[in-house]
Order: sequence, then C-alpha cells, then structure tokens
Amino acid sequence: MVLTKDVDHPDHCKQYFDSIVLVHQAFPALRLEDVDLRAKFLKYEVNAPVIITGMTGGHPEVYSVNEKLATIAEVLRIPIGVGSMRPVLVKRGDTAVAETYKVVRRVARDVPVIGNIGAVNLPGLDERVFIDLVNEFELDALAVHLNPAQEVVQPEGETGFTVEVVEAVVRLAKAVKVPLIVKEVGNGLSMEAVSVFYSKGIRIFDVAGACGTNWVSVEKHRLPENDVRRFVAESLSSWGIPTPAAIVEARYIAPDATIIASGGVWDGLRAAKSISLGADLVGLAKPLLKKLLLEGYEQALKFMEAYIQTLKTVMFLTSSRNTFELRRRPIVILGPLLEYLKQRGVDVNEYVMAR
Ligand SMILES: Cc1cc2nc3c(=O)[nH]c(=O)nc-3n(C[C@H](O)[C@H](O)[C@H](O)COP(=O)(O)O)c2cc1C
Repeated sequence: MVLTKDVDHPDHCKQYFDSIVLVHQAFPALRLEDVDLRAKFLKYEVNAPVIITGMTGGHPEVYSVNEKLATIAEVLRIPIGVGSMRPVLVKRGDTAVAETYKVVRRVARDVPVIGNIGAVNLPGLDERVFIDLVNEFELDALAVHLNPAQEVVQPEGETGFTVEVVEAVVRLAKAVKVPLIVKEVGNGLSMEAVSVFYSKGIRIFDVAGACGTNWVSVEKHRLPENDVRRFVAESLSSWGIPTPAAIVEARYIAPDATIIASGGVWDGLRAAKSISLGADLVGLAKPLLKKLLLEGYEQALKFMEAYIQTLKTVMFLTSSRNTFELRRRPIVILGPLLEYLKQRGVDVNEYVMAR
C-alpha cells in the first residue's frame, strides 16, 4: 500500500524547503575530503548523521527486508530503527515474529539500533515488559511514536492520547536503561507537543513532519469505500506541520535536545537544509524501502551513498567542515517558512543566531 498508492503529502512542502537558502561559498576554504560527516549518537560514533527510521517488523515475510536494511546501516555505519514492536508484545513467545526484529541487531552490530512502540498503547502495559524488550533485542534506544492523525482514521485505531500516555512515557523512561525518543510518524511535532515531553525529561525528538509519507492517506486505502473516515482522511491529505517548520518548533522549545529531522527529508540537499536549520541528525524511511523492494539491495545502497555524498557536497559548498559548522553557516529563510515562524512567535533573526 505504502509503495503502490499515492500516500505522500502533496508537494506543498516543496515551498517550505525552497524557503531555506544555504549561502553558496565560491571559496569554501577546504577540500571536499576535509568534510567530516561523523556524528555521535547514542554512545556510538556513526559515519553520517542519517538514520534509517523505523518501518518494518512483525510479519515473517519482512525478515529479509529488515536484514537488508540492517546490512545497509552496518555497511554505511548509520543508525537504524525497527517498526512498531507491538507484534512482539501481542504474540509473546512467537520466535518467527521476534526474529524479524532480532535480525537487525545481529546484522547491524556496530551502529545504534532503535526499538519502537506506539505511545497510545503504553498505558496499562507493565514497564517490566519493556525492560525485557530492551535487553532481549539489545536496543540502544526506544522510539515512542505519537500518531493521533493515523489512529483517528485507522480501522482499529485508538485515540486515547490523554495525560495517561504522558504518565506512561515517564514511567517507561524511568524503567528502561536506554533513552526514549519521542517521534511523530509524518504529521510533525509542534512546540507544544515537544514541550510536554521535554518538561518530563525526554531529550531526543524525531519531528517526522508533513512532507513525506502521510499515514492518514495510507490508512484511507484500508477503509471501506463508504466509511465516513475515508472522507475525513481525504480532507486531511496534507494535514500536519511541514518538516522545516517542525524542526524549528522543536529546536526552539528544546534548545539542548537532540533533534532528528524526518518526513520527506528525501535527498542530501534537504538533509543539509534540515541540519542547518537546527536538526542534529536526519532520518528517512519510505524512499529507501521503495528502492529496496522495487530495485533491490545494490540500488538501495547506492541511493543511500548518493544521499550522503550530496549532503557532504553541500557541506563543502557552504564551507562546513562538519555538521557543527553547518549549523553556524549563513542561512536565509524566506516566504512561507518565514511567515509561519513569525506567526508562531519565533524571532527568526534571534533563532538563526542561536541555532
Ligand atoms: C512502511 C513504513 C512503515 C512505518 N512504520 C512505522 C512504525 O512502525 N513506527 C513508527 O514510529 N514509524 C513508522 N513509520 C514512519 C517513519 O518512521 C517516518 O517517521 C515517516 O515515514 C516519515 O519519514 P519519510 O517521509 O522519510 O517516510 C513507517 C514508515 C513507513 C514508510
């Protein structure tokens, strides 16, 4: 479904990414090979600040998909997330299900591996389950996804995004020995949402903004033709916070947090713009899966290599030796992004100086 139907946010987001201008430096004062993409993340040194964010797991037929994604992560030395681990909790003791996740750690030995669970499923679950999960699957972090727009149009969706969810996240963070990452799934984190969890001690956020895969549109295709929620989903086909805006929303309210920019960050130029705007790392999901499933492992690996090489090239052309410098290089914010940020109370000049 995600690969065969049109489930991306409409391209209204292009104007938000086009609103960010990185200033070209005709004299970069360095060589391309001087650009160092290495980043520290979850106690690892990775080769590039690029994460394969959580997608698959659970069905035995996706074992080989996860194995190949993990191989790409290991070869390129970049972090990888797995899809929701709810199937492990629902089908306790089913080794075929567990293996679809375990293969990721087995293959991606030297990079961070991130587990995944839905926030709305947390209340009522015993934290000890997650202590075991982290140990058994050798996870370096646990991503907790917030997906209210998806749940609301999902046939079996749950919409209990109440204070109990926050309390459950806090209990979970205390119980497990690894950091939690609060993430969206493609409709974006606002400063209000980040603030709720930041104030409770969460320090890693993946904004997953509304520029790439839209789960509202994915779910629409699973609903019967005459289901009212289908009409709701159609109206919400571009719902959410455009990724560039979500990056600033998160960074503005959580200045010392680790911010991951994902949601349509589908090429190295968008990656560079996202980091320059305030992200520490970027993440991508669907385009890699699509390459892998439609064109195979070699092309998927090449896609990621080209992605990282483009990021490196843009860093060279902006005279940035590393991502720290990229965040300090001149950036011009125009049009809809500037207007959006002003109306959200962000002093853009001050923000740009403080990034
Ligand atoms: C096939 C697929 C499955 C996904 N499954 C999950 C999931 O189980 N848990 C989660 O937090 N996000 C999931 N996501 C969301 C991604 O991690 C990511 O946040 C989102 O797709 C935006 O990135 P993109 O625009 O690069 O696809 C999934 C995405 C795809 C494409």
